[in-house]
Amino acid sequence: MSGKTKQLLNPVSNRRSFLNRIWLGLGLVALVQFIGGALAFLVSGSGKKRSDKPLFIDVGPAVDFAPGSVTLIRHGELYLSRFADGGFLALSRKCTHLGCAIAWDEEQKLFACPCHASTFAENGTVIKTPAPRPLDQHPLVIEKGQVKIDIKTRHRRQSFAPEQLTYVVKKG
Ligand code: FES
Repeated sequence: MSGKTKQLLNPVSNRRSFLNRIWLGLGLVALVQFIGGALAFLVSGSGKKRSDKPLFIDVGPAVDFAPGSVTLIRHGELYLSRFADGGFLALSRKCTHLGCAIAWDEEQKLFACPCHASTFAENGTVIKTPAPRPLDQHPLVIEKGQVKIDIKTRHRRQSFAPEQLTYVVKKG
C-alpha cells in the first residue's frame, strides 16, 4: 500500500487536513476584510468626515426674491423665505417630526406637512404639532448681491429670533 493510500484511509489525518483548510480559508477572509477596511479608510480621507464641509450654492440675485415671498430651492431641498422687511431665511424642507417634505401653502401662508399635518409659519416655527421644534435653518450669505445657501449644513432651532435673518448690506 502506498503512503498516499494510507493517508486517504487514515481518518485522523483527513480530519486534520480538512481543519487546516478551513483555518486557511478563514484567515484569507479576514485578510481580505482587513485590506478592504484599510482601503476604505484611506479613500475616505484618512477617516475624516467629508460631509462636515459646507456647500454653498448660488441661488440668484437678492433682487429676484420679492419681500414677502417664499421660494422653493429645488437643488437643496429647502425653502428661501424673504420677509416683508427684506430679511432672508433659508429653511430645511424636512419636517422636524419624522422628516417628510413640507410644502408652502401660498393661500394660507404656512408650510404644511402631508404626513401628520404639522404646520409651520413663514419663519419656520411650529403652528400645529406633532412637529416638536421649528424647521432647521441653513446658513445663508449675500455676496455682491447674490444669495448663497449652504445646502449641507442645517442648524436646529428652538425658536425664531430676528438675528437669524440676513439682509443685503447697502453701500455708502
Ligand atoms: S412627518 Fe411631518 S408631521 Fe409627521
